[in-house]
Amino acid sequence: MKARVTKAVIPAAGFGTRFLPATKAQPKEMLPIVDTPTIQFVVEEAVASGITDILIITGRDKRSIEDHFDRNLELERRLASAGKTTLLRNMRRISEMAHIHYVRQSEQLGLGHAILQARCHVDNEPFAVLLGDTIIHSEQPCVGQLMKVHERFGGPVVGLEKVPLEKVSRYGIISGSRLAPRVYRLTDLVEKPEPAKAPSQLAIGGRYILTAEIFNYLERARPGKNGEIQLTDALLAQAQVMPVYGHHFEGIRYDIGDRVDYLITQVEYALRRDDLRRQFEPYLKQRMRLLAKASPRRNRT
Ligand code: G1P
Repeated sequence: MKARVTKAVIPAAGFGTRFLPATKAQPKEMLPIVDTPTIQFVVEEAVASGITDILIITGRDKRSIEDHFDRNLELERRLASAGKTTLLRNMRRISEMAHIHYVRQSEQLGLGHAILQARCHVDNEPFAVLLGDTIIHSEQPCVGQLMKVHERFGGPVVGLEKVPLEKVSRYGIISGSRLAPRVYRLTDLVEKPEPAKAPSQLAIGGRYILTAEIFNYLERARPGKNGEIQLTDALLAQAQVMPVYGHHFEGIRYDIGDRVDYLITQVEYALRRDDLRRQFEPYLKQRMRLLAKASPRRNRT
């Protein structure tokens, strides 16, 4: 069934154990990229793709997400009286971007289980899923690219990215037959395979368009990789009955759940900012020169 996608679901209920102690009392989705919480980029991508209604799946300690997308009247008053009108406008914009709703996943039983919590909210409509710890820098918003494929072919669409072989065990990996440039009909989906068993190097990149049928498959899904209810397994079951598509999207994906990726994201986003590049770039260049000088010595020891 083809229908315009206006709803999005953002799972943000994981433990964020790789970022402890930073995530002891706040969700990893609130970790800032320079000065903006990760999840704000995710919501902005959804909104730029035409989404008007967002459901965020939260867990414990997620109040800061709700506060972030709500108005802060005291802050607004202070900014107004200090004449900081641009900042004031930007703060208001955050709470006006979309209708944002929340549902709590009381037990962390996996991504598939998190998506199942959205059933009542999305009803029978196709919906977008954007993982709250993944941001994608692209000319056309990534989930908007997936929507175009959904409009053309109907059915669910999984966003794909090519990853190096040594990283396949971190992702859901697919195989499929090519239907059009960058578009596949999926024939296999495996969650976090060993490199030797991976069906390809095309990884599920944290963006999806799903249809209501997925809930039936999620309900029946048994615990899979790491004992969790996996969305990947439910999509495989669906692909065996009806077409499920993959779209190799254009853009650069940043996995905020990974510490090295997080550091890279900070540097790249800072360099993209006109207000920071002028000061930050000379520092980085100098640091690189020092590193280059130091490394031959390090190699000898
Ligand atoms: C999830 C999905 C996986 C996907 C990944 C993208 O895994 O299960 O298929 O490739 O997100 O980031 P997680 O990172 O939550 O373990």
